[in-house]
Amino acid sequence: MWKRPGVVKWGTILAMMLVLAAMAGPGAGQGTDVQGTEFGEPIQGIGGVEFELFRLGLEDFLEVEDADEGLGPLYNGRSCAECHVIPAIGGTSTITEVRAGTLHADGTFQDPPGGSLIHLFSIPDHAIQAAVPAGANVVAKRQPIPLFGDGLVESVPDEVLAALEDPEDQDGDGVSGRVHWVVDRDSGEVRAGRFGWKAQQSSLFTFGAEAYRNEMGITSDLFPNEMCPAGDCEPLELIDAVADPEDGPEPSTGLRGIDNFANFMRLLGPPPRGAENERTRRGEELFEEVQCSACHVPALETGSSPFEALSHKTFRPFGDFLLHDIGTGDGIQDGDAGPTEIRTAPLWGVAARAPYLHDGSAATIEAAILRHRVEAEGSRTRFEALTAEEREALLDFLRSL
Ligand code: HEC
Ligand code: HEC
Repeated sequence: MWKRPGVVKWGTILAMMLVLAAMAGPGAGQGTDVQGTEFGEPIQGIGGVEFELFRLGLEDFLEVEDADEGLGPLYNGRSCAECHVIPAIGGTSTITEVRAGTLHADGTFQDPPGGSLIHLFSIPDHAIQAAVPAGANVVAKRQPIPLFGDGLVESVPDEVLAALEDPEDQDGDGVSGRVHWVVDRDSGEVRAGRFGWKAQQSSLFTFGAEAYRNEMGITSDLFPNEMCPAGDCEPLELIDAVADPEDGPEPSTGLRGIDNFANFMRLLGPPPRGAENERTRRGEELFEEVQCSACHVPALETGSSPFEALSHKTFRPFGDFLLHDIGTGDGIQDGDAGPTEIRTAPLWGVAARAPYLHDGSAATIEAAILRHRVEAEGSRTRFEALTAEEREALLDFLRSL
């Protein structure tokens, strides 16, 4: 394995950077447009220290774990990259996860003991395999979400997202998205959720730490307890030899796995934009005309960030990061996100992934559009009323994002 230089403590350097950034304050580069990068490259405009943090993060993101390092006992994958790899490291994959539970007639949802995530694998020797519990009447699948540009998404102030919501549909356009307010486990603050299909997390650090535990079974300071099959933790005592928390600071850098994941994801660049031409420009107009942009909001601005490259930037995710009911709901309650609600899928980089929708049930971009109902009924109807040529132009525009 590659050995890290023993001298520098990156944790200390990062702390110094945070202080310097706070001293500099907002201002420099206000509102400047972020350029896309090739998939998997770091965001443009970073310096040597940030590049090194990105590289250390990438290394941990790629690392395939085994039981000696804390993998499992229940797990879905052995490295982050296993599920975040298409079309480059940080992307998506064709692996889907399973959630299950009970949806009652009155619309309330009940998690099975141990939670709604039903793990795919277990070690050692498949001893404690998780199963869909008896009595579950909802079984739902979730695709991995690409992480390109997520540092920008994280840096959007809560007020910006709150200004986009219209929960009572007061403007009468049929679209009524709302913020999923969540308590961030790391800071303890109530924040606007934005990550995950249910916008169930607000911070990349917290999401990464939860993924380390939920997906790989590796516990950390933030999530110190293993997940147990059907909520029964007794069998784990015989199986899991590694003491919790299993993730700890690397002696040479002072950084934990969960710090490294967060740095990698924060500095991972946004998707590259395809070439513009007359057709894509016509498609863009139609995208506005049929009001796809009511939810797939073309541009957002970040607030201040310790990373200059993320601070006060305009970027183009084509999403509002709010919860909507477009009739594709997975039947699962996740925090305050209800069974019918799903976060708007940001459309940047959409052509570089397939299949579509949270569960991968749409094979093509057009099939995903035709599944839009409820809040998106008007938009879809207008899309269907376009001529074949207009539809192609709109699709060409989407493929250029
Ligand atoms: C077995 C597959 C799998 C593995 C392994 C995995 N993920 Fe994911 N990832 C997913 C799925 C599925 C989702 C969507 C989950 C949801 O919304 O419930 C997701 C979503 C995310 C998101 C939200 C992105 C966004 O823009 O909304 C982040 C961040 C993330 N993963 C980070 C990680 C990190 C860090 C690791 C490694 C510690 C990891 N993932 C390992 C499958 C995986
Ligand atoms: C009311 C809000 C809303 C409107 C209006 C809307 N969408 Fe969506 N869109 C969503 C949500 C929410 C999802 C995620 C649904 C899911 O995964 O189940 C989504 C998903 C998608 C996807 C799949 C992306 C992926 O990565 O899986 C595409 C493509 C898409 N929308 C295109 C469009 C187009 C084109 C229009 C206009 C004709 C449109 N949408 C109008 C909310 C909206």
